[in-house]
Amino acid sequence: MTANKPFIIAIDGPAASGKGTLARRLAEHYNFALLDTGALYRAVGWNVIRAGGDPENESDALKGTKILSEVNLNNPELRTEPIGAAASKVASMPAVRRTLVDFQRHFAHNPPTDKDGTILDGRDIGTVICPDAQVKIFITAEVETRAKRRFIEEYSEDGTAKEYSRILEDLKVRDERDMNRAASPLKKAENAHLINTTNSDIEAVFEAAVKFVSSKM
Ligand code: DC
Repeated sequence: MTANKPFIIAIDGPAASGKGTLARRLAEHYNFALLDTGALYRAVGWNVIRAGGDPENESDALKGTKILSEVNLNNPELRTEPIGAAASKVASMPAVRRTLVDFQRHFAHNPPTDKDGTILDGRDIGTVICPDAQVKIFITAEVETRAKRRFIEEYSEDGTAKEYSRILEDLKVRDERDMNRAASPLKKAENAHLINTTNSDIEAVFEAAVKFVSSKM
């Protein structure tokens, strides 16, 4: 792992597929720096909503990109499904995506000196942001399974069937938008390793991923 060419792991997949958890576990395991690129789009969506704007309006969305550095990307409010939906809307605009490309690529290629590589997770990491990544993983699961996971995250034991149905619907709409937009749609890079997590717990997914990543080092 030389300073010129860091080891990059690109993880892509649909909403609530488990890519964030996998990325965090791998980052810890390999001592890699981690960037959750969805948080950048969520921060833009959150800025638009906070300002009373419309995430489907390009000028409102671009204003949201200008104050990105003011947002704490770890703010738990960013994690809710309404903010995910706003993120998906602003993310469909090429002008918004353009403002975030350099930041993501710079992060990928410049790990801090105490880190041994970088991991980025999102929708277009293996296809557009880091097509040169040494490891590409595409992680997915049935939409019902993903909705159940998101439901438990948001409501723990207190959710109702109505809330579950709403999350399921929201995820379907988000999948549709993220996969079918013209600008950098969610799709598996040809050389990405596919992991389906529908019937696997995080431990099994993590072990499979470590086996794959280690085989590429
Ligand atoms: O991964 P996430 O659910 O936090 O992402 C929120 C939204 O951001 C997602 O629905 C689409 C958008 N996104 C994107 O278009 N490209 C990325 N690299 C990451 C996220």
